[in-house]
Amino acid sequence: MSFDILVLAAGKGERMRSELPKPLQRICGATLLELVLNLASTLSEQAIVVLGWGGELVKEELKRLNKKVTIVEQKEQLGTADAVRVALPHIKKENAVVLYADVPLIKRETLSALIEEHTKSGADVTLLSAFVKDPRGYGRIIRKDDSICAIVEEAEIKEEKEKRNEIFTGVAAYRTGFLEKVLPLLKPSEKKGEYYLTDVVRHTKKISSVLCEEEEALGINEMEQLVKAESLLQQRLRAEAMKKGARMAAPELVYIEYGVEIEGECVIEPFCVIRRGVRIGKGCEVGPFSHLRKGTILKEGSEVGNFVETKNTVMGEKAKAKHLSYLGDSEIGAEANIGAGTICANYDGVAKHKTVIGKKASVGSGTVLIAPVRIGEGAITGAGAVVTKNRDVAPGETVVGVPARALKKSSKKR
Ligand code: UD1
Ligand code: MG
Repeated sequence: MSFDILVLAAGKGERMRSELPKPLQRICGATLLELVLNLASTLSEQAIVVLGWGGELVKEELKRLNKKVTIVEQKEQLGTADAVRVALPHIKKENAVVLYADVPLIKRETLSALIEEHTKSGADVTLLSAFVKDPRGYGRIIRKDDSICAIVEEAEIKEEKEKRNEIFTGVAAYRTGFLEKVLPLLKPSEKKGEYYLTDVVRHTKKISSVLCEEEEALGINEMEQLVKAESLLQQRLRAEAMKKGARMAAPELVYIEYGVEIEGECVIEPFCVIRRGVRIGKGCEVGPFSHLRKGTILKEGSEVGNFVETKNTVMGEKAKAKHLSYLGDSEIGAEANIGAGTICANYDGVAKHKTVIGKKASVGSGTVLIAPVRIGEGAITGAGAVVTKNRDVAPGETVVGVPARALKKSSKKR
């Protein structure tokens, strides 16, 4: 069976109380849109994305993500059914899977299970539902003799018996022909006046469903839900890191963003923030209290310790920076030792510059390296040295003082 994939991202997201379009809200360093598109790409190379409110900003994000998508504009946000209606002419396959941009935690396996069920059952609609403790805000699944007969949106609930704990996740597979037939028949809802996609189920008996875990089902309408989603994704990312060999004594005290690469067994102590675009090699030690930012590569056996911040920095094999340092835009050679309190002064107020430190160099405590600067292989800087801009400390040379000068060996014999 063939499937197109549709991502609805046009809504205003009013309940977020945020100026930022909802698809651009981030959890663990990734936008909601990115997470949902990554899920979509498991199914189809090219998703159809419906944009509307804040569309220009969302388009910029699509460009940044460099994803192949067909953009469809929904001029007025009249509801989820209307969003699908404007996308209909772009749906070429026999079936369409609809994802909502504010439901970012659905797992790939779950999506595959949904596709499988839809294919097997030949239903008009196959819904992904979940049992949740707090169903407030969600569309409730109404069953009659076990079969789904309706989805009642929160705002439209009239009877106590509709207050059920089985909710619709927003994710569903639809037969395209069914959508074409039924969407024009929908009427605006009584209370909100929106065209609800969930109303299509009232027009068929051929409905199938698949259940997912409560935490996958989380829909993000309010800030509190965004924060909850972040913590759920954190748990997943930490579990993935552990699977790759990261040992964490207190995992809940480690913050790992989406897209961090762990290359093998390593130790991550508590209170670390590891941003996306970081690679941690085998046998590395990180923390406690380290902040690894984008572009940090820790090569095998290197160590970054207490209150060390790194950005766009390569730590060579077995290099160490154990205390109180800022290492930005730098390349640290293998087995070099960065003394406590070393600072790469990488920014001159206009541009960022590079610091290169050779193999086995020893940078003394409290050294300030005013970039661009090079410290040669095996060179030494004294405690408190300020190595000025464009200084090239020769291999094996020792420099001390402010500004740092070569240490003259005393010729007098005592
Ligand atoms: C929707 C479902 C609800 C489900 C919940 C799961 C409907 C009618 N309701 O409710 O059953 O339990 O998701 O989280 O579908 N959007 C558009 N254009 C619009 C309106 C919305 O593109 O005109 C997009 C939004 O950007 C969002 C998605 O559709 O990504 C869902 O819209 P939202 O307003 O969040 O629906 P919910 O109230 O959460
Ligand atoms: Mg929602």
